[in-house]
Amino acid sequence: MPPILHYATLLSALGLSVVHAMDNGLAITPQMGWNTWNHFGCGISQDIVVDAAKALVANNLTQFGYEYVLMDDCWHADSRDPDTGAPRADPTKFPDGIKGVADQIHALGLKFGIYSDAGMYTCGGKFGSLGFEEIDAKTYAEWEIDYLKYDNCFNEGRSGTPKISFDRYANMSNALNATGRPILFSLCNWGEDGPWNFAPTIANSWRISGDIMDSFDRFDERCPCTSVIDCTYAGFHCAMTRIIDFAAPVLQKARKGAWNDLDIMEVGQGGMNFDEYVTHFTFWSMLKSPLILGMDLTNMSNETLSIITNDAVIALNQDDAGSPANRMWKRDVSDGGNLQLWQGSLVNNTFVIALLNTSPKEQTVEVDFYDAFFDQGKAYQQMSWQLSDLWQKDSQGKWGKNIGTFQGSMKVTIGTHQTKVWRAVPAPSNSTRREEL
Ligand code: GLA
Repeated sequence: MPPILHYATLLSALGLSVVHAMDNGLAITPQMGWNTWNHFGCGISQDIVVDAAKALVANNLTQFGYEYVLMDDCWHADSRDPDTGAPRADPTKFPDGIKGVADQIHALGLKFGIYSDAGMYTCGGKFGSLGFEEIDAKTYAEWEIDYLKYDNCFNEGRSGTPKISFDRYANMSNALNATGRPILFSLCNWGEDGPWNFAPTIANSWRISGDIMDSFDRFDERCPCTSVIDCTYAGFHCAMTRIIDFAAPVLQKARKGAWNDLDIMEVGQGGMNFDEYVTHFTFWSMLKSPLILGMDLTNMSNETLSIITNDAVIALNQDDAGSPANRMWKRDVSDGGNLQLWQGSLVNNTFVIALLNTSPKEQTVEVDFYDAFFDQGKAYQQMSWQLSDLWQKDSQGKWGKNIGTFQGSMKVTIGTHQTKVWRAVPAPSNSTRREEL
């Protein structure tokens, strides 16, 4: 059986253009940056945004690919300009105006994002853009904005079918394109009406679920759906592993320039432990979500820094094949929680394999290569694979330690709430094989 290739990988192998996305040439790999919302909520100001931008640079995060500084809700004045209808910023919190802030961010070599809402008001109760798409897009372009996150509150009931939602968001997408300035369009309608079906041609990314909560697996009634398919109320306070479950069936809707957005990350916010944040960061990377940091960049622990700068894991996210990993199986365990096996295609016939243990206890599991390489077929299932563990460092201190060559299966012991993630490369023929880690 020939290997089943992801659509984008197949087109690229044929030398064809693979960008069937919003035609702005942006987010060819998932966008990376930082957003104000998870840490600061509505309490933002010019100083908070500029200080975060400086911290991004001071911590060398730009060299890992983080480039967008995203100002979320509540930058607004009480009302639009009464004469022109143009949007304007809170003059006390943003004394230099949005253009002044954009200049400071650009001077640092970074890109700058703004937030608005495809409704009467934003979720924080500020003026929205419904009916003001053209003047807002034009003003953002004048302010030299590089990115728009476009939310869904107070939408006047204009949702309920994909076409209604599509039209409402396409109005802004078209208005942004008409400005002539490349502005990354980040659609945020929490998965309503299945944006993975209608958003790829009008947006660079789309949120798939209600808002993330800084918890590994806490259930919260406010995130009531068990799946994003046919979910009629996305809610919020969705635990991190619930969002992984939500993403699983829609991942293959992503392509270059058009990504599933699993939400701003909570890494470093304090609600999860080290292993849980490693799991969080690994999955957001492997599933090709935008990698948007959400903690206070001016006050980060070394532990947090070590997670968000794992370049071997970031490489999974930015891999040129643009193919999100798939869940090959999910098995409940008697201690509660489950074990999950994931696998994804990377460039040059290499792969990522990951095991997640959401149960409260350490587990030992046999990973069968029949499952890991199910999509690629028999030849791949029977090959020898050289694996590197992406959360261990090699002798030179680089992430990704070669842990040996495996064939058929491997036995893995994995701690509670941990993820093990390996890059798999076809092994040289004379290598010695192992069966256990
Ligand atoms: C919604 C979005 C969040 C954030 C807030 C701002 O809840 O989903 O990501 O932008 O609005 O009010």
